[in-house]
Amino acid sequence: MWHCGLELTDLAVRKIVIAGNWKMYKTQAEAQEFLRGFAPELEKTPDDREAILCVPFTALGILSQSLHGSRVRLGAQNVHWENEGAFTGEISAPMLVEIGVSYVIVGHSERRQYFGETDATVNLRLKAAQSAGLTPILCVGETKQQRDAKETESIIFAQLAQDLVDVDQKNLIVAYEPIWAIGTGDTCEAGEANRVIGLIRSRLSNPDVSIQYGGSVKPENIDEIMAQPEIDGALVGGASLQAASFARILNYKLPN
Ligand code: 13P
Repeated sequence: MWHCGLELTDLAVRKIVIAGNWKMYKTQAEAQEFLRGFAPELEKTPDDREAILCVPFTALGILSQSLHGSRVRLGAQNVHWENEGAFTGEISAPMLVEIGVSYVIVGHSERRQYFGETDATVNLRLKAAQSAGLTPILCVGETKQQRDAKETESIIFAQLAQDLVDVDQKNLIVAYEPIWAIGTGDTCEAGEANRVIGLIRSRLSNPDVSIQYGGSVKPENIDEIMAQPEIDGALVGGASLQAASFARILNYKLPN
């Protein structure tokens, strides 16, 4: 099943995508322990949902083996723009593809904030990911200061304009992650997330791009978030680290 736009004349179909971003958490052993709890919960998951785990590079190999034949797709959290070269500490898209990775997060605010990621390098990473057959998850969002200064729209529009130059919007997911809502427990109000995501969609050339919300998503708020018509999924940090809570998020319920 697919998330349909509200208007009957609108034939757009957008995939529902629920992704966990483990950030720098979990050893291989801990990742496998997670799967033991998580796998049985997948039996309850409706077919309409793409489930993704974006894990540290060191856990990708073991999870690729453990998830073989499962409906859960594997994602990385960064990718370099060259296929190979003298780039100490970086990982290339073909390296990710070889071990069974399908998705990669690009431009997460933590990379922009702590590791000097710019819109120019985000653009390079997006194109490299796509060239290798990966689907990038592009993160955009504003700081608290920018929101308070009423710059939310202009910041996000500028990010999209620069990040998406020559990027194929047929193989792309966007995540709206307001920085002030990440890891703070301070979720963006669902209606406001819906509004901003609608604005993001208005800037895309392909209306079928799935757009996720991220920032303090948890079992307690996922149902309300997913009831919003513009929101096609979630990018989940802290609450994706426990099997039970991520399963509850993946198995979100819509009001009848
Ligand atoms: P939290 O869900 O922990 O707020 O993190 C969100 C995030 O950064 C996902 O990429």
